[in-house]
Amino acid sequence: MLVAATDTTAATLTWAMNALLRNPRVMKKAQDEIRTLGGKKEFVDEDDIGKFPYLKAVIKETLRLHAPVPLLVPRETNKAFTIGGYEIPAKTMVYVNAWAIHRDPEIWKDPFEFYPERFLDSSTTFRGKDFELIPFGAGRRICPGMPMAVASVELTLANLLNAFDWELPPGMTTKDIDTEVLPGITTHKKNSLCVLAKCVV
Ligand code: HEM
Repeated sequence: MLVAATDTTAATLTWAMNALLRNPRVMKKAQDEIRTLGGKKEFVDEDDIGKFPYLKAVIKETLRLHAPVPLLVPRETNKAFTIGGYEIPAKTMVYVNAWAIHRDPEIWKDPFEFYPERFLDSSTTFRGKDFELIPFGAGRRICPGMPMAVASVELTLANLLNAFDWELPPGMTTKDIDTEVLPGITTHKKNSLCVLAKCVV
């Protein structure tokens, strides 16, 4: 439970910062939203988060491109059935490839691009009803920690963006920030993200 909670939440925050540093336009837009609508406070709290639709879109886009559990948790069929012409015997282990679903070009325009705007006028949520976006899974085994995860990621990211300007170390450009992952059930960044934080509050 502890690993399911902390590992995934930390991975999501790292991938969000990674994506924002690779996309300065998106970083600026998210910071402008929080700093303008958040009331220029030192600490943004839960009550402010509802004012930040772009931040929420950034988090959705992070969970689409960098779902921390890309194959969800394996299932086992409890009886034989046929799907798409394939006969699946009972007791077959089944993986749901959320990684591929989240990059399906028939569903997503420019699927490899980090483009939070795609969610601004969209009713797609990650709550298990829209099968094109399932970073928390779906159905009876959906992640029970989703509300806590979303609240933690929103609050932490909002404060990181509100209180700090982020710069790359001298000599490094956005092109040097990679998206290589370590193998594992949870996808973590392979190479550490090195950034300079400048406090602005
Ligand atoms: C961004 C953060 C998180 C992500 C992306 C995430 C994702 C997932 C996914 C994909 C599953 C498998 C669902 C399925 O196969 O349908 C899962 C299961 C689970 N998650 Fe999370 N999770 C996160 C945070 C948390 C937190 C904060 C907690 C607890 C406070 C938690 C507790 C669990 C537990 C206990 C399960 C197993 C449920 C079961 O097998 O019945 N998760 N999570």
